[in-house]
Amino acid sequence: MGELSRIGVAIDSDLLEKFDRLIGQRGYTNRSEAFRDLIRDELVQKTWESPDSEVVGTVTLVYDHNVRMLSERLTDMQHDHHQQILSTLHVHLDHDNCLEVLVVKGQAKNVQTIAEKLISTKGVKHGRLTITTSGKEL
Ligand code: NI
Repeated sequence: MGELSRIGVAIDSDLLEKFDRLIGQRGYTNRSEAFRDLIRDELVQKTWESPDSEVVGTVTLVYDHNVRMLSERLTDMQHDHHQQILSTLHVHLDHDNCLEVLVVKGQAKNVQTIAEKLISTKGVKHGRLTITTSGKEL
C-alpha cells in the first residue's frame, strides 16, 4: 500500500446526498472507504477486460440433478479445466436442485470461457460468474 493522499472532490449536493444514502444502506460508516471500494471495483473490472491478465472469481450454478447426464457433464467439464478450478462446493438445495460454487483462477479469457461453457450447459437453471481479484494489485 502506498502513502495516504488526501484529495478534494467537487460534487453536486444532490448527487452527494444520494451517494451518502446509498453507502449508508450498504453499511459504510465513512465516505472515504466507500470511494476506495468503488475505485477498487473499477480496477478489478478493468483487469478482467485484459484477456491475458491473471484473475480470480467464482462460478455459481443451480441445476436439477435429475436431468439425464447433467451432473456427469458438469463434472467432466470441471476435470477438463482442473488447473483453473481450484475448489467446488456442492449443496443439495432440495430433493431436485443442486447449487455449486466453483472457485476459478487463471487467465481472464480462459476463466470466462470455462464459466460460459458451464453456465450455458443445457439443464443449468441459473449461472453467474462473479469476478474478483487475488488482492495482490490492490
Ligand atoms: Ni446435489
